Amino acid sequence: MIKSLYNMDCIEGAKTHLADNSIDLILTDPPYGIEGQFLHKHYNRDENNVLYGYIEIAQEDYEEFTGKWITQAERVLRPGGSIYIVSGYTNLRHILNALASTSLKEVNHIIWKYNFGVYTKNKYISSHYHILFYEKPGGVRTFNKYIRYGSDEHYSDKKSMNYSDREDVWSIKRDFKKGQVKNKNQLPTELLKKIILYSTKKGDRVCDFFLGGFGTAKVAIGLGREIAGFERSEIAYKHSIANMDKIKPGELLDSLRKPKGEGAKNSGKRWLKSDIRKVERQFDSSLKDGLTKSAAIKALSEKFQRGKFGILNLLKKSGR
Ligand SMILES: C[S@@+](CC[C@H](N)C(=O)[O-])C[C@H]1O[C@@H](n2cnc3c(N)ncnc32)[C@H](O)[C@@H]1O
Repeated sequence: MIKSLYNMDCIEGAKTHLADNSIDLILTDPPYGIEGQFLHKHYNRDENNVLYGYIEIAQEDYEEFTGKWITQAERVLRPGGSIYIVSGYTNLRHILNALASTSLKEVNHIIWKYNFGVYTKNKYISSHYHILFYEKPGGVRTFNKYIRYGSDEHYSDKKSMNYSDREDVWSIKRDFKKGQVKNKNQLPTELLKKIILYSTKKGDRVCDFFLGGFGTAKVAIGLGREIAGFERSEIAYKHSIANMDKIKPGELLDSLRKPKGEGAKNSGKRWLKSDIRKVERQFDSSLKDGLTKSAAIKALSEKFQRGKFGILNLLKKSGR
């Protein structure tokens, strides 16, 4: 297990310690440029449990700073590698502009709804963050579609668990660690696990440019991935690095749920003309035999190992 965790600025750190195209996933949560060093006051937190030493980026420096670290992120990511950046809305435009000036391509713009909106009297309560999911072109991106929920799992209202889990609005609660000292804005373990599981394989190299409370690092190691990262604050770094050796590589793997079903084997593949004709003929004769449309599609999906929507689209194209 390789751990490369440095107490230094991420831009200098990446230049010094990370080779071009060497990282499979960057998962990071930069300072928001909203005087984060005072965040505990906004959120009425118990100040004794908030870790001091959070280094904020001044508003006037935010744009330039963001451009510089995202340039490094682009360089170190492997072709096909993924990057997820968590951002509030205040400086979102700077992050989007910086991403647009690189070769990185948007995959999803995820909304993470959290469970403690800042109370307001005469406007709506702000209760979401943005998670910008981009990829570096030129390689095969890892996306483990059935890693958390299989194709055969449904809620009582019949909605697919896999579909729900892959929607781009995530409602995930913050970790509640009563009495424990936390970095400001510490990301929930559930959110970190979700991203790492979907976007990496075991043994892949994950990087966090802004380690904070080392949440990404802990979860990555727990899931049997390698980790690299940077934290500029000496206080935050010293607080967390001391506990890193307590985490056993892969210790979270046994606790993961076992998904059921891996989807249709042929879904997404090109159709042969001869198979299209077979599908049409079988569909027509099934309806003549009295089968409902949905039962006929289900049978076809099993026979041809295709998703039901794939069969439905094909039948629609042939006017059925
Ligand atoms: C929003 S927090 C990250 C929180 C982290 N995701 C967690 O779950 O604990 C941002 C962190 O970046 C650190 N930081 C600020 N400027 C930095 C820089 N130039 N290089 C590395 N870390 C920096 C801050 O001290 C802070 O701990």
